[in-house]
This record gives sequence, C-alpha cells and structure tokens, in this order.
Amino acid sequence: MALVGSGSAVPATRVSNSDLSARVETSDDWIRSRTGIAARRIAAADEGLTALAARAARACLEQAGWQAEQVDLIVLATSSPDDLFGTAPRVQAALGARNAVAFDLTAACSGFLFALITAGQYLASGSMRRALVIGADQLSRWVDWDDRRTCVLFGDGAAAVAVEACPAEQTGLLGFRMRSDGSRNACLTLAQTDLHTPLLPGVTAQQGGFAPIQMNGQEVYKFAVREVPAILAELLEATGTSPDQLNWLLLHQANQRILDAVAERFAMPSEQVLSNLADYGNTSAATIPLMLDEAVRDGRVQPGHLLASSGFGAGLSWGAALLRWQGPAA
Ligand code: ACO
Repeated sequence: MALVGSGSAVPATRVSNSDLSARVETSDDWIRSRTGIAARRIAAADEGLTALAARAARACLEQAGWQAEQVDLIVLATSSPDDLFGTAPRVQAALGARNAVAFDLTAACSGFLFALITAGQYLASGSMRRALVIGADQLSRWVDWDDRRTCVLFGDGAAAVAVEACPAEQTGLLGFRMRSDGSRNACLTLAQTDLHTPLLPGVTAQQGGFAPIQMNGQEVYKFAVREVPAILAELLEATGTSPDQLNWLLLHQANQRILDAVAERFAMPSEQVLSNLADYGNTSAATIPLMLDEAVRDGRVQPGHLLASSGFGAGLSWGAALLRWQGPAA
C-alpha cells in the first residue's frame, strides 16, 4: 500500500498546565519536566468523536485528492467511541463515503498502527483499493479530572491517513511487528464497572458502564522503554534497515522521556524524533497520524522519506512499522 494523504483535527479549546493546576494540585513545572506536555485540547461537551474524526478524514481526502465515494474501507481506531456498536459507520455517513465498509478497531494507543497494518492487508490482497485509516480519541471523557496522576497526560484529537493499493515493490509498509500481553492488562485500564441490576427473582444482569482510566504510571513507563526499542530493533533487523537510513522516528506521543530513551537506543539525533507532545499531550490512537500530518504539512516529511513508527499502550499492546511516505500524486 502507498501512503498518499493525511489530515487532522483537534478541538478548539486549549487547556494549559497552569489551567489544570486550578483544578488539581499540580504545576506546569511538574508536568513539563516529567512528560514534556505543556497543553492539551479538550473537546466541547457537544463535540462528539464522529465530528472530530470526520473533520480529520475530510482534510485527508482533500490532501489525497480523493472523492469520498472512491473510498472502499474506513477503519477507525478508537477507545472512546460515540457508540459502542461502532462509530466508523457514523463517520462514513458524515463523509458521504457510501461505497466504503466502515468498522472500529480498539487497541488503545497502538490502535492507529494496528489499523494501518490491518488496512494494508486488505489492500495487499487485492480485495480493496482505497482506505482511510483514522485514529481518534476523546479520553477527556474517561479521565478522572480529580486524579492528577492521569488527568494531566491526555488530550483529544483525530487524524487520518489515506492508503492506496500499489505494486508490492512500491509499498509504503515495508515491514511490521505486533504484540499483546494481556497478563499485564491491569497496568492501564478503562474497564467495565461492577454494577448490577436485579432482573427477575434469582436473575441479576450486569449493568453497562465504565470506570475512569486507572494507570500504574511507573509500570507503563518501564514497559514502554523496554518493549519499544526491542520491537523496533527486531523490525529494523528483519527489514535489513540501519537506523542511519531512517529519516524520522514517529512514535506514539505518550511522554517525551520515552521518546528520548528510544531515540538514544538507536542514536537518533533529537531533530529526527518527531514530537508534538507539548501542544497536544497524549491523544491515544490519534498521536501517530496527528504528528505525521503536522510534519507532512510543514514540509519536514517529504515524499520518499523512511519512518520507523511504534505504537504502545493499554492491553498491553505494542507494535512497530517501517513506513515510506509517498504523498499525493503530483
Ligand atoms: N502533579 C504533581 N505531582 C504529581 C502529579 C502531578 N500531575 N502526578 C503524580 N504526582 C506525584 C505523586 O503523587 C507522587 O507523590 P508522592 O511521592 O508524594 O506520592 C510523585 O508525584 C511521584 O509520582 P510517580 O507516579 O512516581 O511519578 P513518576 O515520576 O513515575 O511520573 C508519570 C509519573 C509521568 C505518569 C510517569 O510514570 C510516566 O510517564 N509513565 C508512563 C505513563 C504514560 O505515558 N501513560 C500514558 C498512557 S499509556 C501510553 O500511552 C503508553
């Protein structure tokens, strides 16, 4: 598959670290020095995920030069859907992409990379030609705004990439690796609450509902700095790529210290490590395409550039992909 377009959208409301310190006991200095985050965008109460994802997808269609009717597949990576039955069909309808099949994929912060790899399989098999892969999350819905250990980390956003079938020798997905380890699931959860409703005598049903994000920050940090360099090293070796051939490191934006640790492992200069954590915080499934779109639009990422990407987070799940950006047809 060829990566031929990108687009993104973030809510208008910007909440700085100092703004947050009015709500919880924290400070700009604590958040910046521990995470690299300075501000995040927060969706308005009436701004759903569908609208945000559709805005990102429209910008992506425009950059790719595609009409909505030409899209065969929409995969929406999200952990904060408007509808647990699936939000992707709502996005499809909002775009008018009437020929596309649309479904959600849930893998938290690995979601975008897993969705991109999934779409790549449909295109490689020849069963579909054009796909929109969207990463979108509004974790502001699911953080406990009184828990300073988590609420400072996350922000809302959406971004999309347009991928098109192409001859194997021109593929922009040069290799990938995917992993899950559910035995460490408790490190980071947005789990079903234990609510019950009496139904009939002797019959009790579980009531739907989710508890706010729970996280063991230190365990997640250790997981990331151990597994991300390992899976990237494995991928580079399998594809016969040396770090100095890479133009960019495009990692899930969770924490600047994680980005720095991974970069150090591969001796990548900081100028080649893409980061927009300061502006948006951790937007979960959206971070990788949001970062990519910014770097494509400001000209840092050019056609032909090679990017090593890794997504990692709840599940636990993590993955890596070696990507070549093609950009829209001239
Ligand atoms: N402001 C001020 N103090 C705080 C804050 C805050 N926002 N949050 C925690 N503290 C305090 C704690 O209460 C604790 O105080 P105590 O010693 O009096 O008990 C102290 O700071 C140290 O807390 P730790 O949790 O040990 O802080 P740590 O140095 O580990 O930093 C952090 C926390 C930034 C979350 C770090 O563990 C981390 O980055 N982990 C990775 C988690 C992550 O990125 N999660 C995102 C989702 S998963 C993903 O995307 C990969």
